[in-house]
Amino acid sequence: MRVLVTGGAGYIGSHTLVELLGQGHQACVVDSFLNGSPRALDRVRELTNGGLEVHEGDVRDTAFLTRVAIAFRPEAVIHFAGLKAVGDSGARPVEYYDVNVGGTLSLLRAMEASDCGRIIFSSSATVYGEPVYLPYDEAHPLKPTSVYGQTKLMAEILLTDWAKARPEASVMLLRYFNPVGAHASGRIGEDPRGVPDNLMPFLAQVATGQRDRLRVFGNDYPTPDGTGIRDYIHVVDLARAHVAALGRAEAVTGAEVYNIGTGRGYSVMEMLAAFSRAVGRDLPHEIMPRRQGDIAEMQADCAKAAGVLGWRAQYDIDDMAGSLWGWQSANPTGYDG
Ligand code: NAD
Ligand code: WQD
Repeated sequence: MRVLVTGGAGYIGSHTLVELLGQGHQACVVDSFLNGSPRALDRVRELTNGGLEVHEGDVRDTAFLTRVAIAFRPEAVIHFAGLKAVGDSGARPVEYYDVNVGGTLSLLRAMEASDCGRIIFSSSATVYGEPVYLPYDEAHPLKPTSVYGQTKLMAEILLTDWAKARPEASVMLLRYFNPVGAHASGRIGEDPRGVPDNLMPFLAQVATGQRDRLRVFGNDYPTPDGTGIRDYIHVVDLARAHVAALGRAEAVTGAEVYNIGTGRGYSVMEMLAAFSRAVGRDLPHEIMPRRQGDIAEMQADCAKAAGVLGWRAQYDIDDMAGSLWGWQSANPTGYDG
């Protein structure tokens, strides 16, 4: 299929491009490079020998996006472009609503203008909010606790209403859990700007000596070792879920939602232990107070993705840790090195 990929230069986008091109799809990337690097796309080309069209620009620029879409004639869109830092979203709500909701609106206009009716959207487990029960299934109540989460829920609502209004449209809402790890080649991976917010990129910088120690946010949660539990998913498994969702979008119409995780949770201490195994030495850590807004535990119920998309995560915690270390040790300063 001809696939327009917004945010393709980012962490999840670049890994998805490798899988898409590897499966014989054609891709056209739109990215502002706000948080992604053109070098990631060079490396995607190197890994795939795939033809890859790239346009630098902002998804909120509807005229630009429409020109790109009319020229490329996408059969489907994968929409990664967005802002994703939970803390930052509370401080800059206008920017987050503008990019994440406004950007999605702009994209729908460009899709209408180019007669494209299929879209795969990067949603997040954060739309569920405080768990009423676990594991979260797709029917769990939606009550996001951050501006970022609200923007993802609004975009989901917008896309669902769009599908209702266009009987030929197909919308796949993928709620990612905690993506980690990197491509096995070590050539592409997560390249956060500034101090990483997330556990695994921070830990990776502890291993290279860029950070002195991991700060473990709380060891008094009601979990077996007291630290927070998350459903970490290997980014290559996540990338493949997009390929599966594209197949589904080709076959059906309407809006559908899928949890994309492994169904298994690991604690901060288990992730620290796995990453220490990958690096070959114990990494320094310190127990700190809880981080505001964190919940104790979450895991996905992934039965729907398995049953309907035929997709299941293949990689385990050691694959996640090992591939992250492969990327980080070869590229300690990311794409700038
Ligand atoms: P990322 O920041 O690495 O990638 C996003 C890409 O979008 C970047 O290349 C950035 O330059 C681009 N971009 C940002 N604003 C843009 C704009 N206005 N116009 C054009 N391009 C723009 O993030 P990621 O981790 O790859 O996440 C991709 C998507 O998945 C995001 O929508 C994010 O909210 C969602 N998501 C991420 C996670 C996670 O933990 N990484 C979890 C759930 C959902
Ligand atoms: C994981 C665990 C922390 C950093 C966030 C977003 C979510 C999604 C993924 C986009 C928690 C602990 C962390 C550190 C630590 N993104 N931790 N020390 O908070 O589950 O999810 O990223 O959609 O929306 O909220 O991920 O990696 O920040 O934290 O102890 O330096 O690691 O307390 O238990 P989180 P995370």
